[in-house]
Amino acid sequence: MKEMLKADKITFRYTDEGRPAVDGLSLGVRRGEYVAVLGANGCGKSTLAKHFNAILLPAAGTVTVEGISTADEERLFEIRQKVGMVFQNPDNQIVATVVEEDVAFALENLGVPPGEMRARVDEAMRMAGVYNYREKAPHKLSGGQKQRVAIAGVVAMRPDCLVLDEATAMLDPIGREKVMRTVHRLNREFGITVVQITHYMEEAATADRVIVMSEGKIALEGTPKEVFRQVDRLRALRLDVPQAAELCHALTAAGCPMPDDVIDIEGCAAALYRLLTGREAPGAAESEDAPYRAEGAWNREDAPHRAEGAWNKEDAPQSAASARTGENDQGARNAQGAENASGARNAQGAENASGANGAQKAKEVAACPQR
Ligand SMILES: Nc1ncnc2c1ncn2[C@@H]1O[C@H](COP(=O)(O)OP(=O)(O)OP(=O)(O)O)[C@@H](O)[C@H]1O
Ligand SMILES: [Mg+2]
Repeated sequence: MKEMLKADKITFRYTDEGRPAVDGLSLGVRRGEYVAVLGANGCGKSTLAKHFNAILLPAAGTVTVEGISTADEERLFEIRQKVGMVFQNPDNQIVATVVEEDVAFALENLGVPPGEMRARVDEAMRMAGVYNYREKAPHKLSGGQKQRVAIAGVVAMRPDCLVLDEATAMLDPIGREKVMRTVHRLNREFGITVVQITHYMEEAATADRVIVMSEGKIALEGTPKEVFRQVDRLRALRLDVPQAAELCHALTAAGCPMPDDVIDIEGCAAALYRLLTGREAPGAAESEDAPYRAEGAWNREDAPHRAEGAWNKEDAPQSAASARTGENDQGARNAQGAENASGARNAQGAENASGANGAQKAKEVAACPQR
């Protein structure tokens, strides 16, 4: 697979004092890959993300997008068209009073001809699952719907890569689920590379690869199973693990041997079934995959005519400025304070909830009759 994003020994400081926000970090993301980035508050995730579409430039090292250096000002438009950013707060990313106008916003500013714009906006709205709301006012939509409108606005630019910085953090569980399904669909069916920063371990468990950051560096890296089996290491990095992994870990510690590579509910249920009955759970083989991948339940009818991941670049606009990216940049700045505060609250809440539930479940299951 070709490298989509490459950070080579990059360092970035907001101020002269103290440690850098990103500290000599190297990371490659392959085309079509789905990478989740985890890490405690303030470890440098958002700073790293902003390097991927040249919102920030490294003080040392280089970042390339499909081989183009983000320091190459003449190719800024190309870079920002290839890498679309979605931030935490949908309200900061929506600008128009009607959904389809919002999705068309950046294309309008680029002077894309009306016929082509209509086709691209419809396609993007279908891909993001908001076509049915196209005539509605965004402020009347739920948080998850608004976030999918924001995603459609980015998708209309036909990016090769989506970078989502805690894009689900402000959503309720249903909104989160729908946004996750949309993002997985964009990755799986349209080949869009995804870098997803999240505080939700269950979301990270659905990625191809998980990167864990600490103090501006990569502390851990691997498949979700490789990373989440390192429960003690993750806790030392002030992170949680998916509830299913936590339950298995607690059961093993309590003397009920469970596999150490369980990361989702289905895998956990199958392992518990094996533990309690000594037999394989019916249908266990199918439940091995991560939830969004196993399903294949997308409504193909509303899929755009485009079957391939690669956008047709021939009709891509050649103008030099991206209003949408500028607006996102602004959104990022506006959202910063809220993002940090809310991210912290969410992370904390999730930790508490997950910790309490996991421990409670462990106690309940540990009380079950042993084989
Ligand atoms: N605009 C800024 N000016 C000065 N320092 C900043 C700025 N933005 C971030 N920082 C600092 O840089 C470090 C990394 O911040 P960053 O926002 O990248 O972390 P993060 O991992 O995204 O955190 P969170 O999980 O809270 O979103 C932190 O110490 C933060 O306080
Ligand atoms: Mg952040």
